[in-house]
Amino acid sequence: MSKEYNVAILGATGAVGTRMIQQLEQSTIPVKSLKLLASSRSAGKQLQFKGQPITVEEATPDSFAGIDLVLSSAGGSVSKKLLPEAVKRGAVCVDNTSAFRMEPDVPLVVPEVNEAALKNHHGIVANPNCSTIQMVVALEPIRKAFGLKQVIVSTYQAASGAGQSALNELKQEAQDYLDGKDIQDDAEILPTKGDKKHYPLAFNLLPQIDVFEDNGYTHEEWKMIHETKKIMLGDMNAKDIKVTATCVRVPVPIAHGETVYFTVDDPSVTVDQLREALKGAPGVVLQDNPAHQVYPQPLNAVGKRDTFVGRLRADEENPGSFNMWVVADNLLKGAAWNTVENAECLVKDNLI
Ligand code: A2P
Repeated sequence: MSKEYNVAILGATGAVGTRMIQQLEQSTIPVKSLKLLASSRSAGKQLQFKGQPITVEEATPDSFAGIDLVLSSAGGSVSKKLLPEAVKRGAVCVDNTSAFRMEPDVPLVVPEVNEAALKNHHGIVANPNCSTIQMVVALEPIRKAFGLKQVIVSTYQAASGAGQSALNELKQEAQDYLDGKDIQDDAEILPTKGDKKHYPLAFNLLPQIDVFEDNGYTHEEWKMIHETKKIMLGDMNAKDIKVTATCVRVPVPIAHGETVYFTVDDPSVTVDQLREALKGAPGVVLQDNPAHQVYPQPLNAVGKRDTFVGRLRADEENPGSFNMWVVADNLLKGAAWNTVENAECLVKDNLI
C-alpha cells in the first residue's frame, strides 16, 4: 500500500493557511490525517477539509508529535520557534515565511526552476517570497534557452500579501473613502505592521513593502534580489545575474503584477524566440496579443495556479534586452500552491 501522511498546517486560519487547506484538498498527496494549527485566539474554531469539519488547535511544540509533513505560514517568528520542534519530532516542514530562506542548508524551491534542490533538505524547505516566485517562473524558460545577465523589476503588489488583516484594512479604507470620510488615520497595518508609521492603501500607492535596509532598499526588494540568485544560481550572492528591484504595494486585493526588464546573453534573440521559449513552459501561461488587447490582469489571475506573462517587447535601443508583464495569484502560486507543490514533489521523490 502506498504511504499516507499525517499533515499539519500551521497558520491554518490565515489568508495563506486557508488556501493551503484548499490546495492540499486538490493535491496528489495522500493525506491520512490533517491537523489545523493557529494561535490560541482561533483554538476551537472549525474549518473544513474534504467536507469534514476539523477543529483548530493552538500550536505548541507537542502539536507536531506523529506529524510527517508541516505546511506553515504563521509568520517568521512562529516558524523560528516551532519548526525546529516539528523537525525534532520527525516532521518535514515546507515553510512559507522568510525565517529560514537564507540558511545555507535550507533549500529555497520553486519546483518549475530548482526542484532538484529539494533532495538537500534537512527537515525544512523554504518557500520563496511571493513576488520572487512568479518572476523566476517567467524568467527560467528564458534563462534556460538564452542565458540571463540582468533583471530590473518593479512590482505592483496586492494587499493580501501582507495578510488577511491588511486586506480587511484596504476594504475598510475604500468603503470609508467612498462614504466621504477622511482615511488618513485609518491605517494600522500597512505599509508594514512592524514599522512606526502607517499609511492608507486605498486610492494610494505605497513604495514600501517590509522595513527599510541601511542601503535604502526595503527588505522585500532585498528578498527579490537575493532569493532570485539563490533559486536560479544556488548562491544568494552570485554575481552572474545582476538583479535590482522596486517593490510597490497597490490597492488590489489579490494577485501581484510585475514589470520585468531583462537582458539575455545573446543580443540576437528576438521576441518571437522568447515567445516560443515561454509557450508551454511549466507553470507559465502566455497571454500576449496587443492587437486584441490581451494581457494578464490580477482580476483574471485570482484562484489560478499559473503565472501569466504578456506585454513582451524588445528594448529597441538595447539589443538583447526586453520588457514583460507578469501576473500571478500571490496567495496561490506566490504562497499556498507553491508550498503544496513543493510538498507534492517531496512525496513524489520519496523525500519525507
Ligand atoms: P490566528 O488566526 O489565531 O491569529 P495572516 O497571514 O492572514 O495574518 O495569518 C496568520 C496566521 O498565523 C493565522 O492563522 C494566525 O492565527 C497564525 N498565527 C499568528 N500568531 C500565531 C502564533 N503565535 N502561533 C500559531 N499561529 C499563529
